[in-house]
Amino acid sequence: MKVVTVVGARPQFVKAAPVSRALAAAGVAEYLVHTGQHYDDAMSAVFFRELSIREPDVNLEIGSGGHAVQTAGMMSGLDPVLASEAPDCVLVYGDTNSTLAGALTAAKRGIPVAHVEAGLRSFDRGMPEEINRVVTDHVSALLFAPTDVAVANLAREGIVAGVHRTGDVMFDAIRESLPRARTGDSAAARLGLAPRTYAVATVHRAANTGTREDLHAVLACLGAVAMPVLFPVHPRTQEALGRVGLALPANVVPVAPLSYLAMLRVMAEAHVILTDSGGVQKEAFWLGVPCITLREETEWTETVASGWNTLVGADPVRTAAALAQPAPDPAARPEPEGGSAAAVVVRTLVDVLAAGGR
Ligand code: UD1
Repeated sequence: MKVVTVVGARPQFVKAAPVSRALAAAGVAEYLVHTGQHYDDAMSAVFFRELSIREPDVNLEIGSGGHAVQTAGMMSGLDPVLASEAPDCVLVYGDTNSTLAGALTAAKRGIPVAHVEAGLRSFDRGMPEEINRVVTDHVSALLFAPTDVAVANLAREGIVAGVHRTGDVMFDAIRESLPRARTGDSAAARLGLAPRTYAVATVHRAANTGTREDLHAVLACLGAVAMPVLFPVHPRTQEALGRVGLALPANVVPVAPLSYLAMLRVMAEAHVILTDSGGVQKEAFWLGVPCITLREETEWTETVASGWNTLVGADPVRTAAALAQPAPDPAARPEPEGGSAAAVVVRTLVDVLAAGGR
């Protein structure tokens, strides 16, 4: 049995790491394709090193570009690889252009697509990631849904066959890595920031970085925090800030993108986290740190329902109101389940492929 895994962007390296290990443990041959969507050491190679992911078998070196150029380049690069590798299945993760390219190329070749993190929806079709998720789910033969909400979202779109609720592979990743992260280097301590005396912020969504007004609003949200804000700056955001010439608020401390372990450490010790990332919202929840989400909607509605995540758009007034709220009750935080989602994914994949169906 052989799978081709397609990854390309930072969050996918985190998700693929526990699944790749589970594939190896189950004796499934894995051919690893890196699309090259993320290519800097800080955005890519450091994740491979820290998470002990083996070298990709091929890097398509697509790099950055418009959505059409990026996605089409990945598809053109991937097609001959799928032709020569002839896998039983193509495994894709999440919602990036690399996910979409992997899913479409495989589906057009008649190779079953397995989607890890299926069924997430923001219900905002203006988000490139939402288009990627919807299309990927509709061409997938196996849909590994992390939560009941994700399963219900798929059912609402008529997708019931091939859906398996597996738990969340990002929880496997954090569970495996947190002990190492806690004893490692602290980017906050190096800056003189003691635990719980600072916030952490990340911003990279197109909706928050597209125009000067978008950036101005999101920076005003960070400026509303009455403590230093450790701000690992995504390259897209760095480029946008330079382009529009906006200065950061005085309390914001910019740093280069952090590695996975360094990011876990600063998040675990933060007072509050502000973000427009999907993954960071969940990590905050699992770490028991209140999260303020700089978007109008979230795919992770469970985090909001439990009181640990507050949606504020990119509105500094709503951000200030959320910051003024009392901390949520730790007893109200549902216990994270499992920590063996990767094993469930691989067991299901092997059983289904061995049976030759869904
Ligand atoms: C992508 C994903 C998003 C995911 C995010 C995680 C899509 C549509 N979006 O967004 O779902 O949450 O990754 O980071 O696939 N750049 C560098 N160095 C790098 C990578 C990117 O400088 O290693 C710059 C490039 O100038 C590029 C810009 O960042 O134009 C944006 O990169 P891109 O891959 O297009 O999207 P992300 O914003 O990273």
